[in-house]
Amino acid sequence: MSLMTENGVAAAEPGGGGHNFVVVASRLPVDRVEEPDGGTSWRPSPGGLVTALEPVMREAGGTWIGWSGDAGPAPGPFEAQGLHLVGMGLSEQEVRNFYEGFCNATLWPLYHDVIASPQFHRHWWDAYVAVNQRFAQAAAEQAAQGATVWVHDYQLQLVPRMLREQRADVRIGFFNHIPFPGYEIFAQLPWRRQVVEGLLGADLLGFQRRADATNALRACRRAAGLTTRGTTVRVGGPAGIRDVQAAAFPISIDSAGLSQIAAREDVRKRAREIREALGQPEIVLLGVDRLDYTKGILHRLNAYGELLNEGRLGPPQAVLVQVASPSRERVEAYRTLREEVEQTVSRINGQHAEVGSTPVHYLHQSYPREEMAALYLAADVMLVTPLRDGMNLVAKEYVACRNDESGALVLSEFTGAADEFGGAFLVNPHDIEGMKDTIMRATAVKPAEARRRMRSMRRRVREHDVARWAASFLSTLDGTSVAAGADAGRDASTY
Ligand code: G6P
Repeated sequence: MSLMTENGVAAAEPGGGGHNFVVVASRLPVDRVEEPDGGTSWRPSPGGLVTALEPVMREAGGTWIGWSGDAGPAPGPFEAQGLHLVGMGLSEQEVRNFYEGFCNATLWPLYHDVIASPQFHRHWWDAYVAVNQRFAQAAAEQAAQGATVWVHDYQLQLVPRMLREQRADVRIGFFNHIPFPGYEIFAQLPWRRQVVEGLLGADLLGFQRRADATNALRACRRAAGLTTRGTTVRVGGPAGIRDVQAAAFPISIDSAGLSQIAAREDVRKRAREIREALGQPEIVLLGVDRLDYTKGILHRLNAYGELLNEGRLGPPQAVLVQVASPSRERVEAYRTLREEVEQTVSRINGQHAEVGSTPVHYLHQSYPREEMAALYLAADVMLVTPLRDGMNLVAKEYVACRNDESGALVLSEFTGAADEFGGAFLVNPHDIEGMKDTIMRATAVKPAEARRRMRSMRRRVREHDVARWAASFLSTLDGTSVAAGADAGRDASTY
């Protein structure tokens, strides 16, 4: 029998690697920094996941297994920011075949409804199996007897089964941060059965939306020939029959923390400076994305470009700031996208800029949280228009920063966030005319209506923050073996 701590993690008898709580994610929650003296230090990488899991890690004596993002040998176990971390090494060839190849040129486009064509290569799959095996091995070494192991995202879908084969005593949760596609798309994957069987090593499978969980359950039936009942998959194996649950747990952000940053006087001052630097326009439109083809950046730029052509929007009255943070730059589809985005920005600016007045401010950079909060504060209308997105935390960050309840959010229907934000101006990013009209409606919204919309979104983000998400997943995971099937069909957010 397990003992629940405050955060919903089962306290286990020490043993094995000694950690009662093990996070397995493709990335470590820290970035490597080269010091001028040639040494290495680690600084926290921005991201809600670590904020949510840090208290659980500390309370349960947890460890985090992940990759630093550089090719080379494993940094080995180390302490950083007071957390116990186990760095995994990837060789240059594994970076190409596992990370850039199978993760980001096979699974990423496949799981995002084939917006780009997925490539299927057997040697990429072999690298995926080998790297997943190493992560599973590390988890098996770190976990105490009866520990809780939480595996994250599409890069590590084989880890649950590989880990269970070595450590039948641990409780395993898996959360997929990106969409899980419909079966007609998933079925393209030559290794669909192995992926499903890999996932089913877990006790609980978490997804962003109910539709993702439904798609995964269908994949269990079709690709692995298993029987599902409601949200339960019955899995038989040498160790007997097990029930695996699949449910929606919409992820969120550290809403209170971000709201506090946005309330700081230095951040508010910076927001005023940004507006001044932009020439004090009446309306600041903002886009913030990783430079990824799923984010709909080109569709957004095209809509804005047409509004400029038609004289409906543009400087000096309105300007667009587009932050596009560098991502996966060696993957071909990302290189092509960057060229297309940069050509489109130059075309728009070439046509519509005047000396001292630029319609699109394009920033191919990443910024610290404070600068992001200032940008969110400076923006009257936030444009979040992905073609497909598991959740989209930028939408939630914008809302969390708007402490005065002003501002408007234009949000794609094809994001997980759209399921939660009734107060957003929803758009179909493929419908350029519709998107143009909706952007215009958002720019002209009356303050009272804007407030009503923002208030409802802020309530949602405040009440459903990332700590609640983690606690909800972990308490459901803790209940899986004793109360299989009880509540798993409900959205975790309704608990
Ligand atoms: C998405 C994925 C994450 C991934 C992140 C950054 O949010 O869900 O698993 O870590 O993108 O991508 P990268 O390729 O830099 O890890």
